[in-house]
Parts: sequence; structure tokens; C-alpha cells
Amino acid sequence: LQPKVLAGQRVLVTAGPTFEAIDPVRGITNHSSGKMGFAIARAAHEAGADVTLVAGPVALRTPRGVRRVDVQSALQMHAAVMAEVERATVFVAAAAVADWRPAQAAAHKLKKDGSGQPPPLAFVENPDILATVAGLPRARRGELYCVGFAAESHDLLAHAQAKRARKGVPLLVGNIGPATFGRDDNALLLVDEHEVVEFPPAPKITLARQLVAEIARRLRAEHAH
Ligand code: C5P
Repeated sequence: LQPKVLAGQRVLVTAGPTFEAIDPVRGITNHSSGKMGFAIARAAHEAGADVTLVAGPVALRTPRGVRRVDVQSALQMHAAVMAEVERATVFVAAAAVADWRPAQAAAHKLKKDGSGQPPPLAFVENPDILATVAGLPRARRGELYCVGFAAESHDLLAHAQAKRARKGVPLLVGNIGPATFGRDDNALLLVDEHEVVEFPPAPKITLARQLVAEIARRLRAEHAH
């Protein structure tokens, strides 16, 4: 049995990819399986938190006791998070949100027109959900502790530190190693203002429990001030 280190906390987690429609039958997405975010939601619930999970399109079962809101696109994920965030005390952004979406989703299926020319695709940038939440005024976000993720192919520590500062979050978690997508194991690098902590390769649920313990430790430290 896990110690209830998050009792009384309300944890909001994003997980999975987003799906950005091109037309009614096509879209762009990525290889995020959602497993890490779902594991974090499960671990937070085990730790006594009230957990809401905003999930992109994934093939995963909802962890027991967790409230789940399903979304497809980054804009929908953004709206769902903004609707939930005011009651949250912890926000963990584990989703692999698409950076861009097609500027205009076609109302009808795009057809080959015989010219041999593919249809032009223009993109616009999606809102950065984590940076938006972290930048909300105190009055709206209250005492919200924000945790971001980084998946990088190289220079993870430097990127994670830079990303922590850029997003304005106290804790940034880097996925160590290439292509953790879809796998059950991972390794993590936690970067905060003071220290870097490494969690060696382990099942994602083990890492999620370790991460939850680290978040709880930091919440206690913040309250002690
Ligand atoms: O900038 P990058 O996508 O690498 O940042 C990753 C972190 O930011 C993750 O925590 C991810 O969930 C979050 N993010 C977000 N909204 C976006 C892009 C990333 O919340 N549009």
C-alpha cells in the first residue's frame, strides 16, 4: 500500500498525443502512448489525491478512481485543462501536445483532383497549455504546483533546464533515452531550481510513484516556507 502523501491534493494530469484534423477522415498525431501520464494519474490516486486525467486519443484503461476527460485536439485539451485547473493544486503536463495544427480543417474529405499536385497544408501554432497554466495570475491558479515533461533526442539536461525556465515551472521531468514511446519502461531526469535527480530505468508505474513522492516532498517544502 502506498503512503497517502498526496492526501487533500487535487491533481490534474494531461496524457497521450493530440490529434489535429486535416479533414473529416485524416489528421496528424504522434507516437505518444499515454502510458506515462496514465501511470502518474494512477500513482497520484494511490497517494490519496483527487485525480482528473485529460487524455488525448489513447488505447488505455482509465486507472481506478480517476476521473477522465477525453479530448482529441490540442485546442480541446487546452479548453479541458482551463476548465479544470482552477480547482487543481498540482498540474502534471505529460501529454505530447502537437505544436501545430492545420490552419483550417476541411469540412469535406480532400480529394485528388487529377493534377498530381497535393493539397497545400498550412499550419498554425497550438497554444502551449503548460506555459499558459504556469503563467496564469495567482488569483486564478491559486497554489498550483506545475510539472512539465521534456522528450529530447540529445542534450537532455541542458534542454530540460532551459525548458523549465522557459515554461516557468518549478519541476521539469526529462525522458531519458530514445523512443520511450509506447514502452512500459522509461528512465527519468528531474530538474528543479536546486537539483537534478535521476531515476534509473524502471517500469513507468514505478517511476510514476517515485515522481509522485518527489512532488509531495516539494509541496511539503513549499508549505514549510
Ligand atoms: O515545448 P515542448 O513541447 O517540448 O514542452 C513539453 C512540455 O510542455 C510537456 O510538459 C507538454 O505536456 C507541455 N506542452 C503543452 N502544450 C503544448 C506543448 C507542450 O502543455 N502545446
